[in-house]
Amino acid sequence: PSGGLPRHFLDLDQVEGETLTGILDLSRRLKAGGAETVLGRARPLEGRVLALIFEKNSTRTRVSFEVAMRQLGGDVLVMDASTSQIDRGETMADTARVLSRYVDAIMFRTREPERLAEMVAHATVPVINGLTDVAHPCQLMADVMTLQEHKGDDLSRRVVAWSGDGNNVANTWVKAAARFGFELRLACPEELRVDPDVVGWARASGARVVEGTDPEALVDGVDCVVTDTWVSMGDEEREVANRHNLLRRYQVNEALMARAAPDALFMHCLPAHRGEEVTDAVIDGPRSAVWDEAENRLHAQKGILAWCLGA
Ligand code: CP
Ligand code: NVA
Repeated sequence: PSGGLPRHFLDLDQVEGETLTGILDLSRRLKAGGAETVLGRARPLEGRVLALIFEKNSTRTRVSFEVAMRQLGGDVLVMDASTSQIDRGETMADTARVLSRYVDAIMFRTREPERLAEMVAHATVPVINGLTDVAHPCQLMADVMTLQEHKGDDLSRRVVAWSGDGNNVANTWVKAAARFGFELRLACPEELRVDPDVVGWARASGARVVEGTDPEALVDGVDCVVTDTWVSMGDEEREVANRHNLLRRYQVNEALMARAAPDALFMHCLPAHRGEEVTDAVIDGPRSAVWDEAENRLHAQKGILAWCLGA
């Protein structure tokens, strides 16, 4: 690696707001025009290799990073914790030191944020957070890009409502509200609220975040309704039946969507659990933006990769 600190992409509160806006601008231009037009080279990441390490399952994150890297002329390798030495106890620190000698960047999907932090502390190449138990920043880059495509670049007068579990994706929507200026209303059961430290950070940064337990009231008139699974990866051991009981009234169905603005979008990071957090009528309905949202993972990853790798 060349001198200077690597450009890690770890969370929306760890990267300056102006940088995030710049990454999204680049993502949008790459989506519209391709690398040759935008960056002056058809293969700006030629000769660069990204390692993808998964300690949890993935479809979109894996495929969008692989395709993004290849379309920009680079290469990827995918590591699964269970077939590497990671699951036999090699530390993240040692893994980071070794991988930094082989590859140009590392994307890591893991459980506890401490594992990601250990990786970052010892990597000498950029590290990208591909989801932890508490954050999913690459997802929110695609989500904000999608919201802007449908509602315009200036989100300052827009209102988004989250109805469901106050999970890793919800945390990151809160950080996105601080970075991109939209109002966020969180409808979550008392027991499954978003981390108060995250809400506190966002409010201290000027974000408008409203919290409550009544989805009907909170969705009233909003521009976008968002939800996610009731049982995130790793939650399977934590009282699934009780989570379903607590979250049932937060389901996004046609009755709940009817309370939002007439042109309100429905968003979901996917995978969806149809009939649980969202009904078929909503996710397959005319206001659903979920396939645009999934597509934009590819374009947003390109912006993130180009920034991290200095393309
Ligand atoms: N939304 C998302 O991150 O999907 P995957 O788990 O399939 O990567
Ligand atoms: N909250 C979900 C998101 C999956 C992309 C999970 O962590 O399993």
